[in-house]
Amino acid sequence: MKTIHNIFLAGALLAACAGASAQQVNVICSVQADWCNMIATVYAKTTGVKINLALKGSGEALAQLIAEKENPKTDVWFGGTGDPHLQAAEQGLTLEYKSPSLAQLYPWAQQQAQQSGFKTVGIYSGPLGFGYNTELLAKKKLAAPKAWADLLKPEYKGDIQVANPASSGTAYTMIATLVQLMGEDKAFEYLKGLHRNVGQYTRSGTGPIKAVARGETAVSISFVHDAPQERMQGFPVETTTPSEGTGAEIGSMSIIKGARNLEQAKKFYEWALSPGAQAFGAASKQYQLPSNKATAVDPNVPDFKKIKMIDYDYKKYGASAERRRLIARWEKDVNSLPR
Ligand code: G6P
Repeated sequence: MKTIHNIFLAGALLAACAGASAQQVNVICSVQADWCNMIATVYAKTTGVKINLALKGSGEALAQLIAEKENPKTDVWFGGTGDPHLQAAEQGLTLEYKSPSLAQLYPWAQQQAQQSGFKTVGIYSGPLGFGYNTELLAKKKLAAPKAWADLLKPEYKGDIQVANPASSGTAYTMIATLVQLMGEDKAFEYLKGLHRNVGQYTRSGTGPIKAVARGETAVSISFVHDAPQERMQGFPVETTTPSEGTGAEIGSMSIIKGARNLEQAKKFYEWALSPGAQAFGAASKQYQLPSNKATAVDPNVPDFKKIKMIDYDYKKYGASAERRRLIARWEKDVNSLPR
């Protein structure tokens, strides 16, 4: 009798273990690796649920979701610029979900949800600007850029890096910002001029500021919240925002339509909107402004009040047709030109 009882117990234990190992959530993570890894570790420790991470830039993440549309392998897309999240929503790749936490978020994060039919939500925001290596600029006797117009100066030739807008949401934010600042034709004239000075277009949005930190290029077009981490490692990196005005991203999060682990996806999503979870941004040296009003704001987070911001039209520039058209125009009119 006892043996039967023991076998039954062992079986029950095995079943429980199998159940536990099935508790997982597949996340495409489009912020920096330190943040992705920290949330995956903490989440697994506190909930017992495993996060399978895939690290991808915003444009690459969208391309993957389009490719796996018929057979989704992803449950949640965490982070990355908001425009491709809006495009994913419009293309029916993400699931409508109204979080009970929405009211705790800043209006810009709620607006991102409303504009997508609640198929995405804002989790952070950060302004676009320039990064520069103070030592390299001094060595080359170059002034730090203060305006978009400065980046066209011949003395910066080969010394500016920016990402490629097809793979990087940061670079697409730049194009959309310039179009809104200057009007489309003037913006593309500007981008052609900038192209002559660009030494390299990187795949990832953070590639250029890391190259600035290592002294491989003097200037980058980057989110300014990506600089403090480099400075903390001892690199001579400073940032500024262009005097003509600049745009900001609304870093977003979406649940994938057809998610295999839907209940776990919703639990992770709710956790990610909580102030406790959002604090892991600054804890991993990522200094975007968190979307939950109750999340502590680290002193390294850029102060939007001190920056000349444009009134970025997220709905227009997150629309599929617009985003595709602007990237295609950049490929054809700009990237195809010799440098
Ligand atoms: C970095 C920034 C994020 C941004 C992301 C976009 O991780 O810290 O705020 O959303 O880059 O990456 P991407 O490679 O798409 O430009």
